[in-house]
Amino acid sequence: MKLLWGFCTLILCLYRGNALADPLIVTQPMEVRNETSAILSCNLTNPLSTVKGHYWMKNDKVIDGTKQDSNALYTELNLVRIDSRSGGVYVCVFLSDPEVKNAIEVKTVPDVSAYKHSEYGNEKDKGVMVCVSHGYPLPTDWKWYKQVDSGDKMAITNGTDRYTIKSTPNRTTLTIEDLDIDNDMGDYICYGENDIGQASDKIYLRVRSRLAALWPFLGIVAEVIILVTIIFIYEKRRKPDEINDGKAMLPQTTRTGMSGKGTQTESLTAIF
Ligand SMILES: *[C@@H]1O[C@H](CO)[C@@H](O)[C@H](O)[C@H]1NC(C)=O
Ligand SMILES: *[C@@H]1O[C@H](CO)[C@@H](O)[C@H](O)[C@H]1NC(C)=O
Ligand SMILES: *[C@@H]1O[C@H](CO)[C@@H](O)[C@H](O)[C@H]1NC(C)=O
Ligand SMILES: *[C@@H]1O[C@H](CO)[C@@H](O)[C@H](O)[C@H]1NC(C)=O
Repeated sequence: MKLLWGFCTLILCLYRGNALADPLIVTQPMEVRNETSAILSCNLTNPLSTVKGHYWMKNDKVIDGTKQDSNALYTELNLVRIDSRSGGVYVCVFLSDPEVKNAIEVKTVPDVSAYKHSEYGNEKDKGVMVCVSHGYPLPTDWKWYKQVDSGDKMAITNGTDRYTIKSTPNRTTLTIEDLDIDNDMGDYICYGENDIGQASDKIYLRVRSRLAALWPFLGIVAEVIILVTIIFIYEKRRKPDEINDGKAMLPQTTRTGMSGKGTQTESLTAIF
C-alpha cells in the first residue's frame, strides 16, 4: 500500500513538474463578447527557447503590421472599433522553437446582408431570395418574414404554402413557387441569430406579369405595322403625282412639298 502511495506521489510530482515547465500563454481577456473596442493581450511564460518575434492572426490569416522581431514575451493587439465584421478567432503566435500560440475569440452580433436588395420573378415562375453572413459566430438560426400592408411582419414557415427555406450557417435561401402578382410582391426580411444577438436585412421582390414579358415583342409588331401603313399610304399618294409629273403646272410650294415626301418614301423603302 505504501509503495502504491509513493508511486502515485511520484507520478503526481512528475506531472506537476512537467506542467510547470510547459510554455504557457495567458490571454487577457479570455473572450470578447459584444464589445465596441478591446485590447487583446498574450503573456508567455516558460518559453522552451528564446523568442525571436511574435505576430497576430485573425481567422488563420496574418494581420498586417503585427509582426515584430523582438524577444518580448508579451504582446498586445488594440481593436479600436469592433463591428459585426471584426468578429473572429484571433491568435497570438510567439516565434520560439517550437512556435507557441493561443487564441482569443471575438464574438459580435452576426453580420447579415441580402445577396441582392431587389429581386424579381415572373408570374407563375419562382422567386428566390438569399441572405448571407460573414461575422463570428455565424448564425445558429435563420428566420424569414414578409412585411404586410399594415406594417406588421408575417413569419414564414418552411414547407407551408409555396415557401421553402434552406439554411446553412453562412447562407439562407427563401424560395416562393408559383409567384402571384397580387400577394407575393413586397418586402421580405431575413433574420440571422447567434448567441450574442440578431441582425436582419430586407429584400424587395417584384413580380412581373407574364404579359409584361410579351410587351417588347408586341412593340416590334406594332412598329412594323405602322411603318408598312405609312409606306402604303405614301405609295398610293405618289402614283398620280408621277403621272402628272412635268405635265401639270403645280404651284412652286406644293411641288417642293411633294418631292420632299417622295424622298422620305424612298428612304423608308430602303430600310426594308
Ligand atoms: C506576465 O505573467 C507573469 C507571470 O504571471 C507576470 O509576472 C507578469 O507581470 C505578466 N506580464 C504582463 C506584462 O502582464
Ligand atoms: C425546409 O424543408 C425542406 C424540405 O422539407 C428541407 O430540405 C429543408 O432542410 C428545410 N429547411 C429548414 C431551414 O429547416
Ligand atoms: C459557407 O460555408 C461553406 C461550408 O460551410 C463554405 O464552403 C463556404 O465557403 C462558405 N461561404 C462563405 C462565403 O463564407
Ligand atoms: C450587446 O450590446 C448592445 C449595445 O452595445 C446591447 O444593446 C445588447 O443588449 C448587448 N447584447 C448582449 C447579448 O449582451
